[in-house]
Amino acid sequence: MIDLEAQYRSIRSEIEAAVAPVVASQRFVLGPVVEECEAAVAAYAGRRFGIGVSSGTDALLVALMAEGIGAGDEVITTCFSFFATAGAMVRLGATPVFADIDAKTFNIDAHAVERLVTKRTRAIVPVHLYGQMADMRAILETARRHDLVVVEDAAQALGGSRDGARAGSVGHYGCFSFYPTKNLGGFGDGGMVVTGNHDRASRVRELRAHGEGAGYIHRVVGGNFRLDALQAAVVNAKLPHLDDWNRARRRNASLYNELLGDFATRHPDLLELPANRAERHTFHQYVAKIARRDEVRAELAQAGVETGVYYPLPLHLQECFRSLGHNKGDFPAAERAAECVLALPVHSELGQEQVVHVADTLLGVLSRQSRTR
Ligand SMILES: Cc1ncc(COP(=O)(O)O)c(C=O)c1O
Repeated sequence: MIDLEAQYRSIRSEIEAAVAPVVASQRFVLGPVVEECEAAVAAYAGRRFGIGVSSGTDALLVALMAEGIGAGDEVITTCFSFFATAGAMVRLGATPVFADIDAKTFNIDAHAVERLVTKRTRAIVPVHLYGQMADMRAILETARRHDLVVVEDAAQALGGSRDGARAGSVGHYGCFSFYPTKNLGGFGDGGMVVTGNHDRASRVRELRAHGEGAGYIHRVVGGNFRLDALQAAVVNAKLPHLDDWNRARRRNASLYNELLGDFATRHPDLLELPANRAERHTFHQYVAKIARRDEVRAELAQAGVETGVYYPLPLHLQECFRSLGHNKGDFPAAERAAECVLALPVHSELGQEQVVHVADTLLGVLSRQSRTR
């Protein structure tokens, strides 16, 4: 599903040149290399301010904290995402209010959001799932009408764009992850909050270091959400390659579409290819819908083809959110997606012949299925 060793080999000298000065300086937390990274990622994302933080999870957490979101507040989000999206809200005592997804794009159904707004709603957290931006026009319109804060969970979408806007550039905050397997991954955990607003940037900066203002004086309670300089150095070295890597992912995705398109048209009950509404999808994942997913996945594994399932259980059905009172059937599109999504390898180091091999293997499995129905 990912070949980080091959990526590392291709830019090893650049990484070493970026990391060595940090090691020589022995300045490992925040500092000039982190500031360089903040400026570079913010500029890349089309924002004025970047604040390096310890992970994508902490980026979401600290953005919500900067808005003072907590007990009694509701935050509208998708029920089909990585756990951190809703986990951050619950950790602050706020209530995630889930919306179902658009079955075609897997992103939050932007029209469902409007209906979920109550007097307690404070924010909307759309997720740009798999690297395709959610319908931000509709979401921002709802937010404007009800005076809500928008925090983009852009952990999977750095470099993506839709309707002329870059991921992370249109909400009040954009949150990125540098987890190693992300399109722009560090050598450990890391993340960034970007924003266009000076006051919001200052609040996030304060909160990421225990709410410390001048020398050990604390006006507010924050946390240790600092980005370390080694991660920032790796991100700095990798950022100039991100557009090429994202292009390679899109090329691999197009090839899958080409190779699998005919079968998907003839057997829509067995295979559905991902719908793309964005001009630049980052294809953090290439996710098809496959009716007998688990069977297909097992056969692919037997043939040596690795795949992924993101995510097997929607958030509203997670045990730790039981107190929210949801049941199976509440969000049918997300529940159906959890049963049939299958991510095929699409990463930037994957060669075309490997894509052809995966597609051929998948077509072999699916063709057998179509004959034995
Ligand atoms: C959609 C989404 N949100 C949040 C996160 C959290 O990022 P991190 O793993 O850096 O904490 C991730 C990635 O893991 C993610 O995919």
